[in-house]
Amino acid sequence: MTADPKTIGMLITWAQRSLGTSGSTNASQEALWLLAYALGMKHHELASWKDRAVSGEELVRAESVISRRMARVPLQYILETQEFCGLDFHVNSSVLIPRPETELLVQEVLREGGFSEGAVLVDVGTGSGCVAVTLATILSGIRIFALDCSGDALTVAKENAERHGVSDKITWKEGDFLDPLRECNLSGTVDAIISNPPYIAEEVWAGLQPEVRDHEPRVALVAGQRGTEFHERLLQDARPFLACGGLLVMELGQGQAPFVRQAAEQVGGYTGIQTIKDEAGIERVMIARRAD
Ligand SMILES: C[S@@+](CC[C@H](N)C(=O)[O-])C[C@H]1O[C@@H](n2cnc3c(N)ncnc32)[C@H](O)[C@@H]1O
Repeated sequence: MTADPKTIGMLITWAQRSLGTSGSTNASQEALWLLAYALGMKHHELASWKDRAVSGEELVRAESVISRRMARVPLQYILETQEFCGLDFHVNSSVLIPRPETELLVQEVLREGGFSEGAVLVDVGTGSGCVAVTLATILSGIRIFALDCSGDALTVAKENAERHGVSDKITWKEGDFLDPLRECNLSGTVDAIISNPPYIAEEVWAGLQPEVRDHEPRVALVAGQRGTEFHERLLQDARPFLACGGLLVMELGQGQAPFVRQAAEQVGGYTGIQTIKDEAGIERVMIARRAD
C-alpha cells in the first residue's frame, strides 16, 4: 500500500482496487465482506461509516485479510464460514467448503428416506459435517455415524454439530472408508449410507482454480485416475452394512453417472438404481437400495 488509507471509504477503494488487480471477478463485493469481517461490522454498515477514521490496528487486520485473498485463499476460509441448507458452518483449510450441489444429496436422502424411530444413517467423508449436521437438525429419533479419514476435519465437524445443537445424535469415527464401523456391530442394520466423496480425476486436479487446487484439502477432492475410485470402493463396502432395502446415496461428478451405474450393476446386490439431475441438468446424485 503506497499511502495508508485514512478513512473507511479510502480503505474500501484500496481494497477493491487491490482485489481487482489480483484477478478477483467479484472484487467490489468481496472487499466489503472482507473489510466488514476485519473491522467487526456488518458489510452494509461500512457505507454509512465511510468518513470514519481507520485505526492502526484496523489497518493491520484489513491488510491481512486482503493480502490473503490476493494470494487466492478462498473467501470462505478467510471469513471462516459457509452457508449450507440455510445453516452456517464453520470452515477452515482442513475441510472442503460445502458446495450448493451437495444440498441435492441431502434433499434426496430426505425424499427417499421415510426413516423410522431409531434409524441409523452413516455419512462417509463428513468433512465439515455439513451433511450429517443438517440431517440431524431435520430428522428426529435417528442416529448418525459420521466418518472421515481426517482427524482435523472431524474436529471442525464436531464444532459444527455443537453450534447447531445436534452433538448427541452423531457419533464421530476416524478411519478409512467404512472401516471404523466394523467395531460397531452394524452389519446388515444401516438404513442409509450417504456420501459426497472426493470425485476429481488426478489429471483434472492440476487445472483447477488456485482457490481449490492450492487451498482445499487434496484428499477431499481427488479420487484416482477416473475420479470414481471412492464410489467404486463404497459400492463394494456399503452393501454388507446396509439393512435389506437400505439406501446408498452418493454425489457424482459431471459425466460420472454411466460409469458408476455400471459399477453398481457389476458389484450386484443393489436394486432401484437411479440418478437425479441437478438444476444444471447434470446427473448429480445416485441412489440405490440393498436388494436382499
Ligand atoms: C468431497 S469431501 C466432502 C465433505 C463434506 N461431506 C461435504 O459434502 O462438504 C470428501 C471427504 O472425504 C474424506 N475422505 C477422503 N478419502 C477418505 C477415505 N479413504 N476414508 C474416509 N474419508 C475420506 C475427506 O477427508 C473429505 O472430508
